[in-house]
Formats: sequence, C-alpha cells, structure tokens
Amino acid sequence: MTTVLKLGGSVITDKERAETVDGPALDRAADAVAGHDDLVLVHGGGSFGHHNAKEYGVSTTDGTHDVEGVLDIHNAMKALNGLVLRRLHARDVPAVPVHPLSAASRDADGELTLPARQVETLLDEGFVPVVHGDVVAHAGEGVTVLSGDEIVTSLATSLDADRVGLCSTVPGVLDAGDVVIPRIGAYEDVASVLGGADTTDVSGGMAGKVQTLLALETPASIFGLDDLAGFLAGESPGTTID
Ligand code: IPE
Repeated sequence: MTTVLKLGGSVITDKERAETVDGPALDRAADAVAGHDDLVLVHGGGSFGHHNAKEYGVSTTDGTHDVEGVLDIHNAMKALNGLVLRRLHARDVPAVPVHPLSAASRDADGELTLPARQVETLLDEGFVPVVHGDVVAHAGEGVTVLSGDEIVTSLATSLDADRVGLCSTVPGVLDAGDVVIPRIGAYEDVASVLGGADTTDVSGGMAGKVQTLLALETPASIFGLDDLAGFLAGESPGTTID
C-alpha cells in the first residue's frame, strides 16, 4: 500500500520569516509520520526557495541560466530538506533525501521526466524517501522550478501509488460558506467555487490542484495538519478527489 504524501511548504515553515521552519508544526508532522512505511514524502518550500526563485525570475515556465540563481534556489530547498530529515530521524524514521535536480528534466514543451526507480528501490528496501520541490534542467530555459505538487502527481503515477495525500494549510477544499467539500468526482462539482475549468495554475492554486488530482489515477485527499495522523491511519479526512 504505497502512499505519496506532500507536506505543504506553508504547513511546515513560517511564511512570515525567510528560511524559518514552523518547529511545532514540523514536529507534529514528523510525529504523525513516525511508524509508517511504504511512504514517500514530498515537501514544498514555504518560506524557503520561493523568494530565491522570485529574485531570479524563475517559475515553473520561466528559467534562468545564472548558476548563482540555480544554487541559491536549490540550496534553500536542500536546507529545508535537511531540517525535515533531522526531525524525522529524531523519531527513527528511516528517511533519506532525494534531490530532483540530480535526476529530473523538462523538455522544450515543459514535459517533465522524473525517474522513479531509485525512489521505488528505496521504498522496497524499507526507507522513507523525502523528495523536495527544486529547480530542474529545462530545455531552452536553463532551469525552472519543479513544484512539490508536480512531484507528487508524477511519482504517484510512476510508483502506481494507492493513496495520495496533500497536507495543506486548509482542512480541505472549501465551499462558498468555508465548509469542507467531502468529495469531488468531477470539476463541474466545484467550478462555481473554484472558477471555470480553464483556470490553470500549475503551482499553488486550489483550482489547478483539483484539476491535476482529478486527472490522476490514484485517489487523493487534501486535508490539514490536524488530520495527518488520521490520513496515515487509513482514514479519508478533508476532501477526497477521485
Ligand atoms: C517550491 O515547491 C519549490 C521551489 C524551488 C520554490 P512548492 O511550490 O511545491 O512549495 P509550496 O508547498 O507551495 O510552498
């Protein structure tokens, strides 16, 4: 039963302060993860990486050839990855880092190739791979940002995962009255709340997330940190997208 779980950058970092983790939140996340196996963790940037990317004008589509920019963004994400690993190791989680820059690429159309064999083998050997949003080689662009959400969908497919979880700052996809929508089976169900189906945002926005997750074979849940332990215990908290 393979699970791919993303810890949103905004959940585990303090968005108000540059390159600062939200210690208590990261502790809670690590507590919830401890004891689970057949699990791939992916984390975003939050207060790490995003401001560096902005400084160099790098997004998922606009790249840079400036090596200083590449290292600035990559090193910020690696720094957060190291802090996540430290908290996991303190709880005896056999977590090992996986850095997308070393393996992934996009072609000139932006199509992502993210090899997964190493992640699969690490899982088979009992490790918990911890992958992070990063910069990746992009034909014609230099490097561009690879978001945690893109990693989640790519790995869920490559690994034929059974479950996907997105631990977010909200308890799920909210309706107009801020109540969690328990299940979304088609975009029409939520178009009136999230905007038309042509709303495309590859990194961040809920409309884009929902559309991407609907296209995914694997059922996905979006939930808040309070529900992380329940999700890992097999519950379907927050919003289920299938
Ligand atoms: C950030 O990843 C990657 C960067 C290099 C900036 P995400 O875009 O997935 O981060 P969050 O979870 O939304 O903060």
